[in-house]
This record gives sequence, structure tokens and C-alpha cells, in this order.
Amino acid sequence: MTDKVAVDLSGPAQTMLSTLYLKALDADFERPVLGDQYAKEAIGRIDYDWHGLGITGKWAPMFTVRTAQYDIWARQFMAVNERCTVIHLGCGLDTRVFRLDPGPDVEWFDVDFPAVISLREKVYPSRPNYHLLPTSATDPSWLDQIPADRPTLFLAEGISMYLTQAEGVALLSRVVDRFPSGELQIDFFNWLAIKSQKTQTLVRRSGSTLHWAVNKPSDILDRVPGTRLLNAVTLFDASTFGRASTAFRVAKRALRFLPPVRDSLQYHRYGFGTVS
Ligand SMILES: C[S@@+](CC[C@H](N)C(=O)[O-])C[C@H]1O[C@@H](n2cnc3c(N)ncnc32)[C@H](O)[C@@H]1O
Repeated sequence: MTDKVAVDLSGPAQTMLSTLYLKALDADFERPVLGDQYAKEAIGRIDYDWHGLGITGKWAPMFTVRTAQYDIWARQFMAVNERCTVIHLGCGLDTRVFRLDPGPDVEWFDVDFPAVISLREKVYPSRPNYHLLPTSATDPSWLDQIPADRPTLFLAEGISMYLTQAEGVALLSRVVDRFPSGELQIDFFNWLAIKSQKTQTLVRRSGSTLHWAVNKPSDILDRVPGTRLLNAVTLFDASTFGRASTAFRVAKRALRFLPPVRDSLQYHRYGFGTVS
């Protein structure tokens, strides 16, 4: 008998088990990137064959540096907009709300498929001003459940590639149309990352298919009216990449000569609405 929480997920929803596991492994490193003790504790609460994921800790920095970058940007947004809403789409079992510990004037929404949100409810405690929203991102009505009375951060880490371009553009447009002002903080795969998806263990093992490639900010600026570019960096050029292990930093030097590989994962940040 075990009192651990059972998990039975497949497809895109399953991929968040890998990112959680890598964060938990990172927490035990001598020089962690994130040092996410909440992720480590969560792993202990879930009954799952983590080794069966087929990934090892050496890959952790590829994901933890991304999460660290979005933590920095989200903190910056909340520092400027003390009274705000945060929509954390494709939250999986990520513990950003606990890591960032937002103040009392922040309404935080963690959003993911119903099966993932149900798991979240069993694994993590509740907290004030914290809401769980079980839905597919592609359902056109879910944003109506979020009050549009304050600046809004729409943060979507590791989810855009599971949407089609039409779904993604429609979603971003709905956010920009609904909220008075705010930011879109979102990461994208370029054409090469989408094309080479079969080589990505995390994607292949989950049985997911990736669709949406974004190669440069103008792909968004031209399709989502009302957005203005605040920042766009690649995985390798982001300041958090400096926290990755030496092997990754050496690889970065070689990738200078392979732009499509260098640009395969990009972190974008857009503003919309009235400037705060
Ligand atoms: C690679 S995981 C990333 C999870 C988390 N953001 C992290 O960094 O650990 C992708 C997440 O996107 C969610 N997702 C994918 N497609 C979705 C959709 N159409 N609607 C809601 N969530 C979706 C999955 O359920 C999963 O939790």
C-alpha cells in the first residue's frame, strides 16, 4: 500500500512530468540552477516510475535555465505592477507560484488540462489569491473566467509548440483583446526544433506531436495586432544560460556557426495595451 498520488497521463500532459523531474534532480546538484525544493518534494509525493522517463540529470540545465529566465521576467512584471493578474498557462506541476511567492494584490491562475489540474490539487497546497483553471488552452471561452480589471501577465512556458499556429495566434489575440494592458511571456521552437521533434526524448516518449514554429518576433508582431516587442533571446543567449554546466557552455561556442540550432528555442516577451 502507498499513500502516494497515482498518475496516468499521456501526450502533451505527460511531458510536464519530465520537466518536474529535471527540476527535482537540479535541486540536488552541488550548483543548482533553480534549486527548486518544492519540485523535489513533489516527486516524493507522486507514485511514478521516474527512471522510466529515460532522461538523466545532465539534461536538466536545458530546462531549468528556461524556467529561471521566466522567473526573472515574471518577477520584473510583478515588481512594476504590484496589483496584477498572472495567467500561468501550461503550468503542469511547475511550482512558480511558490518560488515567486506573489504579494496579496496578485491574482494568480494556474491553467492546464483537467487531468493535470486534478493532479496539482492532490500534490500542492492551496494559497490565498491562487486559482486553478482546468481547461484546454484552445477552448475559446476559458479567458472569460479571468477578471479583466488589472494589468495581466500571460506566461506560457513550454506549451506553444503543442498548439497549431492558428490555435496559438487566436489565443494570443484573445489575451491582447481581453485585458487592458500587460505582457505575453512565451517561448517558441523554431522550424528546426519542430522538424527534428522525433529526436527529442521528452516529446517522443509522450507520444505528442509538435506543430507551431516561430522563427523570429515578427512572426508574432505581424499576426497578433497590438503586441510590441520587449525582448527576445535564444536559450543560449539568455543571461540564465551562464548558470548551465560547462559542457553546455562549450556547446554554445560551436553553435555560433549553426544559426538554426542556436535559435531553436527562443524566449519572447511582448507588451500590449496601455504602457504602465
Ligand atoms: C513541457 S510541459 C511544461 C510544463 C511547465 N510549464 C514546466 O515548464 O514545467 C507542457 C505543458 O503544457 C500543457 N499543455 C499542452 N497543450 C495544452 C493545451 N492545449 N491546453 C492546456 N495545457 C496544455 C501540458 O499539459 C503540460 O503541462
